[in-house]
Amino acid sequence: MSVLIKNGRIVTAAEDYIADIYIEGEQIAAIGQNLDYKADKEIDASGKLVFPGGIDPHVHLDMPFMGTFSSDNYSTGTLAALHGGTTSVIDFILQTQGKSLRNALETWRGRSDGNAFGDYSFHMAVTDFNEDTKKEIKEMVAEGITSFKTFMAYKGALMIDDGQMVDLMQEVKKQGGMVTVHATNGDMIDKLIAKHKSEGKLSPLYHYLSQPEVTEAEASGRFADMAHYTGVTAYIVHMTCEGALNAIRRATVRNQQVFVETCIQYMTIDASLYEKDFEGAKWVMSPPLRQPKDQDALWAGINQGLVQVVATDHCPFKWEQKLMGKDDFSKIPNGHPAIEHRVELLFSEGVNKGKITLNKFVELTSTNASKLFGMYPKKGCIAIGSDADLVVFDPNKEHTISKDTHHMNVDYSAYEGWKLKGKSEIVLLRGQIAVENGETKIEKGYGQFVKRNKVKGII
Ligand code: URP
Ligand code: ZN
Ligand code: ZN
Repeated sequence: MSVLIKNGRIVTAAEDYIADIYIEGEQIAAIGQNLDYKADKEIDASGKLVFPGGIDPHVHLDMPFMGTFSSDNYSTGTLAALHGGTTSVIDFILQTQGKSLRNALETWRGRSDGNAFGDYSFHMAVTDFNEDTKKEIKEMVAEGITSFKTFMAYKGALMIDDGQMVDLMQEVKKQGGMVTVHATNGDMIDKLIAKHKSEGKLSPLYHYLSQPEVTEAEASGRFADMAHYTGVTAYIVHMTCEGALNAIRRATVRNQQVFVETCIQYMTIDASLYEKDFEGAKWVMSPPLRQPKDQDALWAGINQGLVQVVATDHCPFKWEQKLMGKDDFSKIPNGHPAIEHRVELLFSEGVNKGKITLNKFVELTSTNASKLFGMYPKKGCIAIGSDADLVVFDPNKEHTISKDTHHMNVDYSAYEGWKLKGKSEIVLLRGQIAVENGETKIEKGYGQFVKRNKVKGII
């Protein structure tokens, strides 16, 4: 199959120009003006933006968590992602404490293989670091799983202690990988949860009040210190607040770089949503939504170069699953749906409102994740030889987010009624038209595992 995209405004992390793109098979074969290849399909992109397919490096598909499973699987989740302009995702494999990394990898392959519409890769969450696990780090890197996730919270299920963290960092550094972290102080949070419950404070608001800013700021600083000591490439996932960002800003004083991801929700919605009684459960996630001053810090942090990636932490649960915590906020499954709307929300709220440039938008949604996680220049750029993962985007198209029209397997939307300007019109994945004007054009199983390279630690 060959495709010729004519007269699009091509936007990458560094460039912005009008040209044609010729695709042969899965890759970009030529870029230039007035290309006259005969193609199986020609797309007129006049007046449209053409940018690299989005990469969401933080999603949880079909994940067992808090007594249930996240409601999007590899099929529904990657399809919803494609509809919103995200062509690749990186999901989290969770090691079961007491079992091997290999065992977890096989379980996740059983969920993903043959089921995805979009491309996917894995981070390996190490929840039990010991002499056996240590030997498996090298094997995982050879499998193309080069990032290792840790949790400083969720004690008894996912959390590791600081001794394990330092040992893991040393081994991952040796093998050319990266350590990523959910950086919140698990012990403090557990204390606050217990206190609120003992006082009969059981509504979703107390989920928020059990995870104050200091719990994230402290853990982020501690993680940065351990990363500095070991020299490992380090990345903090889903950063939400000014205090945590300032901990990383302080680390730069000793010439350390800790890479930072925030998520679209922390930039666009805030903790006032927890005041809606149990409806607030829709936004129960960890860390919780914060204050407007934290949103300001994140937008500023992006333009100061402290924040490199905007992800989603897509971890959806249907309303009946959220109801598991009707009488106790600590039983509400943590997570919210966003995989479909990240790119369009960031464009509408960021580019259209003059908070970020178009080039920065591409960096945040695609290029930086590709570089950081060892996928560049296969993914995340528009260059000859790169995968033809492209979005033809109408910057003027207005639309409204709704549970009635989204593709995610969730019966509510965290952004119901939001009016956006800018929509993904045609989405190509490895040279195939995956979505065209809202219609799916590929089959389940088209999505492939992306084997990632060792990380460079620089972008
Ligand atoms: O609330 C969240 N974030 N759920 C998913 C698990 C995690 O901590 O990322
Ligand atoms: Zn997390
Ligand atoms: Zn997560």
